[in-house]
Amino acid sequence: MFATVAIVGAGPAGLLLARMLHNAGIDSIVLEHRDRAYVEHRQRAGMLEQGTVDALRACGAAERLDREGLVHHGIELRFDHQSHHLDFPALTGGRSVMIYAQTEIVKDLVALQLAEGGPLLFEAEAIAIEDDMLTFVRDGVEEKLGFDFVVGCDGFHGISRAAIPDARVYERDYPYSWLGILADVPPSCEELIYAHSDRGFALHSMRSPTVSRLYLQVPNDTDPDDWPDDRIWDELDARFAVDADWKLMRGPITQKAVTPMRSFVTEPMRHGRLFLAGDAAHIVPPTGAKGLNLAIADVVTLAKALQHWFTTGSPDLLNTYSDTCLRRVWRAEHFSYFMTTLLHRAPDQTPFDTRLQLSQLHRIADSRHAAAELAENYAGLP
Ligand code: FAD
Ligand code: DHB
Repeated sequence: MFATVAIVGAGPAGLLLARMLHNAGIDSIVLEHRDRAYVEHRQRAGMLEQGTVDALRACGAAERLDREGLVHHGIELRFDHQSHHLDFPALTGGRSVMIYAQTEIVKDLVALQLAEGGPLLFEAEAIAIEDDMLTFVRDGVEEKLGFDFVVGCDGFHGISRAAIPDARVYERDYPYSWLGILADVPPSCEELIYAHSDRGFALHSMRSPTVSRLYLQVPNDTDPDDWPDDRIWDELDARFAVDADWKLMRGPITQKAVTPMRSFVTEPMRHGRLFLAGDAAHIVPPTGAKGLNLAIADVVTLAKALQHWFTTGSPDLLNTYSDTCLRRVWRAEHFSYFMTTLLHRAPDQTPFDTRLQLSQLHRIADSRHAAAELAENYAGLP
């Protein structure tokens, strides 16, 4: 088997790359370890930057997104029982974000790939990457895939990263996790609420006019079974408490999962014909919603570079791929770290630390400059 570009992983990064290459007339084969249902139902991100939406539109994958996506013009910060609205268009020169679930992006891209694109092989696990050959296992049988280029879009637990020799790794763990829920209840807010409280962080997001997505900061190694539904709603109520006429609507919880938090970057993101994209190369803690958006930005950069190579024979953009991506990655790493440490309560947090957090939150609420810095990073830098 041979593909001009072999893609490992059918998350948003691998699927969008395959789509963009297909549109550019470059053939690819996508290998995905899991089955289709698993990939299409794994609950994860939901907040899309303008650049992510633009990329999906440009490759003809935004028909449903444009019908069902919810445009958001800002977020609410809650602290000290007060609420503060950040108006993104006013603070960023017109930018907004969109709420549309990662699961839906994956479903849309899988359907397009199966209808129009190159092979997308589910339950095909890549096990080794060599210079111009990849080995994978399907139905218990080892197969070989030759390539001109191979792209590791296989997420944080994939195998591609290990094929880059002498990589430099930068990482940080956090002393807390998120308990994320999906609930069949209309959102209690029009815009996302990021809440700082003495009891820890909480986030109110949504998936549709009838489905809410909420997150609670919890200790690492929390067992979701220790959190019956009533306990979750009571805790959310306590953390979102505000001196205003506002009520958190409760409804049946349909999914519950705990996610640890990590910052991680591997450099460089390229070795010879191997390129890394998305979570395979970098992880951010989810506060600020950068992970999916970074994954998309990587493959947009890579698709352009590959297209440039195949149309002009110039390796210039392939050679700058890693540095171009890492500039954006480190900005997002800083922003995600900033949002995380600003809003969460560390187990060893002192009253001094809390005062610093509140001082910074007041600064964002009071200063257009401080608010614009947050809004620009959140809505996405060009
Ligand atoms: P993945 O989605 O991880 O896809 C990798 C794929 O590779 C998987 O399908 C995997 O099965 C496959 N694979 C792995 N190993 C192999 C192998 N050996 N062979 C073949 N296939 C393999 N980001 C945001 O931007 N906004 C948000 O609002 C946001 N919220 C989040 C909330 C939560 C609770 C979590 C957990 C994450 C969130 N993120 C968010 C992060 C976002 O989900 C990820 O950054 C995104 O999934 C990265 O996409 P990817 O394609 O790089 O990797
Ligand atoms: C969502 C996740 C995030 O991490 C975030 O900052 C905003 C929204 C979400 O899943 O909707």
